[in-house]
Amino acid sequence: MSAVSSLGYLGLGVKNLEAWEQFATEVLGLQSAGIGKDGVLRLRMDEHACRFALHRDDCDDIAYAGWEVADAAALGAIAERLRAGGVEVEAGSPEIAAARGVAELIRFSDPDGVTGEVFYGPSVEFERPFHSPRAISGFKTGDQGLGHIVIAAKDVERSVRFYRDLLGFRISDFIEMKIGSMGFTMAFLHCNPRHHTLALIPLPLPKRLLHFMIQARSIDDVGATMYLAQDRGIEIASTLGRHTNDHMLSFYLRSPSGFEVEYGWGGREIDDRTWHVQKHHAPSIWGHRRAGMPG
Ligand SMILES: [Fe+2]
Repeated sequence: MSAVSSLGYLGLGVKNLEAWEQFATEVLGLQSAGIGKDGVLRLRMDEHACRFALHRDDCDDIAYAGWEVADAAALGAIAERLRAGGVEVEAGSPEIAAARGVAELIRFSDPDGVTGEVFYGPSVEFERPFHSPRAISGFKTGDQGLGHIVIAAKDVERSVRFYRDLLGFRISDFIEMKIGSMGFTMAFLHCNPRHHTLALIPLPLPKRLLHFMIQARSIDDVGATMYLAQDRGIEIASTLGRHTNDHMLSFYLRSPSGFEVEYGWGGREIDDRTWHVQKHHAPSIWGHRRAGMPG
């Protein structure tokens, strides 16, 4: 069955583009490709021409998730499966494909109204190697895509069916969470060896995007970035810790849009030939202290 192979790009609607450019480059260590004539700020983290597209928008939330597939045949198969599943699918216009820098794409809404785009043929620029403005070792991407996102889903079971049965994700595990007297279950899904590319949390939250995660190639980059953020007065939304399910060692920063960015290192990987779904009862083995929400 044709399946999404990675999170190829992420579109964000942000109120303050200038604050984001500074935060993304000077703190996260992403490379700015500049603000285009279309007013979109594009950010790089590897050989891809655009991993993040930031649109000026008051929502300060996810605008769209770009799910990569191998080729036109895979795109066609997924479009067909979505339509058969009752999902309205729109073919991306040549203008949108050009704006995303991809060969072809389709657009649709997930069960909670989050815009999804399945595409193939991203623009890659090996001739212009990624160069972080910071002295960091770079990011773990490749077949694992840009990282992961955690989004709010009213009905996690319904969303799992959507992402698993129509887009081809596999379940990694579940975390049974408890905040005070409130209990709920988060679902984690993968589409490549990255432990999860998508996580779903069934809480009525003000934003659909809780956080996105980018994975540094060196543990020192995580430590150095945490202290840099502290020195610059950026809120550490969750302190250093290691997660129970993906074993990611990470901390969380508050982005200029309010949602968080998880800065991680050392996540464990999934081999679909041997992986068994697991159930966890806490988000972290140690650390990740925060005032409110879970990581
Ligand atoms: Fe995360």
